[in-house]
Amino acid sequence: MTLHQIPNTIKTDSYWMPFTANRQFKKSPRLFSSAEGMYYTSVDGRQVIDGSAGLWCVNAGHGRKQIAAAVERQLMTLDFAPSFQMGHPLAFDFAERLAEIAPKGLDRVFFTNSGSESVDTALKIALAYHRANGQASRTRLIGRERGYHGVGFGGTSVGGMVANRRAFTTLLPGVDHIRHTHDLTRNAFAKDLPEHGAELADDLERLVALHGAETIAAVIVEPVPGSTAVLPPPKGYLQRLREICDKHGILLIFDEVITGFGRLGTPFAANFFGVTPDLMTTAKGITNGTVPCGAVFASRKVHDGMMTGPENQIELFHGYTYSAHPVACAAGIATLDIYKDEGLLTRGSSLAEYWRDALHSLKGLPNVVDIRNCGLMGAVELAPRGGVVGARGYDMLVECFNNGLYLRTGGDSVAMSPPLIVEKSHIDQMISILGDAIKKVA
Ligand SMILES: Cc1ncc(COP(=O)(O)O)c(C=O)c1O
Repeated sequence: MTLHQIPNTIKTDSYWMPFTANRQFKKSPRLFSSAEGMYYTSVDGRQVIDGSAGLWCVNAGHGRKQIAAAVERQLMTLDFAPSFQMGHPLAFDFAERLAEIAPKGLDRVFFTNSGSESVDTALKIALAYHRANGQASRTRLIGRERGYHGVGFGGTSVGGMVANRRAFTTLLPGVDHIRHTHDLTRNAFAKDLPEHGAELADDLERLVALHGAETIAAVIVEPVPGSTAVLPPPKGYLQRLREICDKHGILLIFDEVITGFGRLGTPFAANFFGVTPDLMTTAKGITNGTVPCGAVFASRKVHDGMMTGPENQIELFHGYTYSAHPVACAAGIATLDIYKDEGLLTRGSSLAEYWRDALHSLKGLPNVVDIRNCGLMGAVELAPRGGVVGARGYDMLVECFNNGLYLRTGGDSVAMSPPLIVEKSHIDQMISILGDAIKKVA
């Protein structure tokens, strides 16, 4: 055993953990030491099945040697190349490969290092695009309640998770939100897409009437919100949102940081729903979670709309030191090779029905108030215990981990999104542990 595998020798004081109850965690740390395929190994040597593809990112499963080899090769060949006014071939290759699998028309790619950066980049592109096209009054950004768009000031501002916003008193001005679509009264236990609620897209018309279309730059939504525990959109909702955006000249941004790269059984959620946004943000699965990377996909309209002015002028004053980092590009290309060779971008479609039925078999267990699924995403919502939101959810996390299942919890919901290499036997294992845990925390 290495030092890192012996929990009681680890000093936990210095590491300020993200999105974690630090003091509670450090009293009883949950630590992984290795991972292979569908499984983590915990520091005490237990196999823990990965019900959430890490953080919705390890789509091809863990320990992919092809990616590791590409990263090693790249580090020894070209470890870094400046990304401003200079380049390296892999960046162009990677962008071309991404454009090949992108929803039709979204084939211009801007690289970032994370989902949060992709979101802030897309919001800035939307503003700059309108300005470049003589509509500088379009400065307002619209998000949606219960949306999660990362942790930059832009993403936090358009995000609609109350806890993520509350502590940060200074957010972007000129932001508004349309209503969320979560409706337990009409849609509880809906399978796949809920029947009711397409009309909630019309809430955008309310904001247009309130603020004036000429002030609105863009609307950003997750096609299927993930971090607020998987909220599939009502049938027809996204189509309607697209129509309203078109009617008013508002750009539509899909945040596909979770839904991108095969999560719904199609390469992107845009393919799944047959709705093409003007901008699409991605990260996570783009490198199978191995090397930080993100990408914003832009339509020709948006991209070409920015390619104006003298040729020696920088069109977009934006970018990161690590945009198109050679190692991220190498990892990304190797990841796309695996997705292609193993058919992972569409594999989810053949398992979605099994996944759905397995999840919904938990209906009727104590405190289960809703079950939701879409592609290979799923959530079980539990009633809060004694009115304290999150207590039962946290107990679920611990109980599942102790019994060999890693999943995400938010409030009193558990959310799952297994690696896309998942087999039916893995799904059975996850549902069995989950069902037992639900009974245990009743
Ligand atoms: C929809 C969505 N957007 C943005 C982000 C932020 O991504 P990152 O944590 O890589 O910054 C996330 C992360 O979960 C996400 O789910």
